[in-house]
Amino acid sequence: MNEIKLFSPATVANLSCGFDVLGLCLDTIGDEIVIRKTNKKGIYITIIEGHYVPTQTSKNVAGVAAQAIYEQLNLDYGFEIELYKNIKPGSGIGSSSASALGAVFGINELTGNKFSKHDLIAFAMKGEAVASGNEHADNLAPGLFGSMTLIRSYAPLDIIEIPTPKNLFISIIHPQVEIKTSESRAVLSDTVLLKKAIQQWGNLGGLIAGMYKQDFELIGRSLEDVIVEPARAKLIPHFEETKESAMKAGALGFGISGSGPSMFALCEGLKKAKRVEKAFSVSYKETGIAYHTYVSKINKKGIKIVSE
Ligand code: HSE
Repeated sequence: MNEIKLFSPATVANLSCGFDVLGLCLDTIGDEIVIRKTNKKGIYITIIEGHYVPTQTSKNVAGVAAQAIYEQLNLDYGFEIELYKNIKPGSGIGSSSASALGAVFGINELTGNKFSKHDLIAFAMKGEAVASGNEHADNLAPGLFGSMTLIRSYAPLDIIEIPTPKNLFISIIHPQVEIKTSESRAVLSDTVLLKKAIQQWGNLGGLIAGMYKQDFELIGRSLEDVIVEPARAKLIPHFEETKESAMKAGALGFGISGSGPSMFALCEGLKKAKRVEKAFSVSYKETGIAYHTYVSKINKKGIKIVSE
């Protein structure tokens, strides 16, 4: 096999109570990536379409991730990467991780699948770090495994796949302002009060239990973030009004998607998810800020081979 084309999905990280450890895979939004073997050794980004990202391998998240796996392979040929970016960088729905994951997944496929899924995440984290200044895997893991994932531990990397109820849907609003992950991490404190930590791990346990029990009420009341959201909400225009509109329209819960500015609401059933999407539009129209909205079911498969 000399060439592979992939669909690498967008993802929602954190899910309120699971900062840096929880993530969910989306269905319809994602980047397309083509990777081709080339006689020349090395990694080359040859085409970028959709949104601007650097072409230089060492500055591009897909390039850095690809380089990380390439260095372990000792090949006498190289790879060209074409990135068709449908996910806007700085959107909060895993733009950098979709590209980084696509690069390592594709190279692994083209070279006989020598690496495990956990290895691929570790390589892709090198790329993710270029965008955010920090190696985290909460977008990468759901992108690769699908559904919801929990990073139980980073060292060693231990990823747990969490089942999601059939009728769970997600509505997203993406205000067209860019928030860099590095900037939204800079507003966070290094320390946490014990009483806040107790609330947060109670919610995290509740959310995971809600997924297993398919208990939508429990999922909803566990979507609470008392640590990160209070610091980040002020970076997101009209956060409070948007939350109110989603809850009024029947969302189970609402929060910041990843590092923002996108916001998400989990909903029981497609009908309710569409109602929440409409409420997002109604409330955001008044702000004068351009936005996109999406409704997605939970993608249980993760990254997908389109053709080879
Ligand atoms: N967990 C990360 C954050 C996700 O919130 O900073 C963003 O990529």
